[in-house]
Amino acid sequence: MFVDSHAHLEMSEFDRDRDDVVRRATEGGIDYIVTVGTTTRECRKAVAIARAHPSVYAAVGIHPHDTQGIDATTYVLLKKLAREEKVVAYGEIGLDFFRNLSSPEIQTRCFEEQLAIAADLGLPVIIHDRDAHRQTVAILKNWQGSTGGVIHCFSGDAAMAVSCLEMGFYISIAGPVTFAKSDRLWEVVRQVPLNRLLIETDAPYLTPQPHRGKRNEPAYVALTAKKVAEIKGLSVPEVGWATTDNAINLFGLPRKSA
Ligand code: NI
Repeated sequence: MFVDSHAHLEMSEFDRDRDDVVRRATEGGIDYIVTVGTTTRECRKAVAIARAHPSVYAAVGIHPHDTQGIDATTYVLLKKLAREEKVVAYGEIGLDFFRNLSSPEIQTRCFEEQLAIAADLGLPVIIHDRDAHRQTVAILKNWQGSTGGVIHCFSGDAAMAVSCLEMGFYISIAGPVTFAKSDRLWEVVRQVPLNRLLIETDAPYLTPQPHRGKRNEPAYVALTAKKVAEIKGLSVPEVGWATTDNAINLFGLPRKSA
């Protein structure tokens, strides 16, 4: 009934109990988890985890934080990994001007380079945007051969959401929607049509209430669905089915017969 469209099962936080985490998700009605690599090492691991678990699919790409480490061999390896059977998206890529762990110039160049690779591969992209809303939208508008994708953990305002919808992107809502005083995000949820919304955990980060402060895990995506349902005046199953259908369409996941 749910898809966690963005988690990081490959991170070391899950080394101890990864199988249990996936099992709890399945038991909690999470049909699919997309696990998103952030470095070449983590991308390799994400693909291996997807291979080992029927419900897990992978995305590969270099996170904006890690773009300064990109060298000539990085993209060769990513293109190879991207052709693996269970890889359904390219990402996460984008801009993070909040932490600036790589310089804005390097982030921008590598974002554009990776968008071109995704277009060549014919894969949808998973976009990371933190404190770089204007620049992210401008780069996406210039993206030749766009294959579409999703703005993950959306943190812009309703006007930015409209720009992204117009470009054909999905908007993904993460745990912060369950936090107090998230008025701007609630307005985004109200404005974005149900057929363009995804839900995600970004686990192990961004744990939704009432578990905030603990490690996040894919099973908790149901809490985000519940909050989205409440904001939109819908039932939880309505939100679950619609966002699952959207994720299946975007990532080309297998459709389960009822
Ligand atoms: Ni992430």
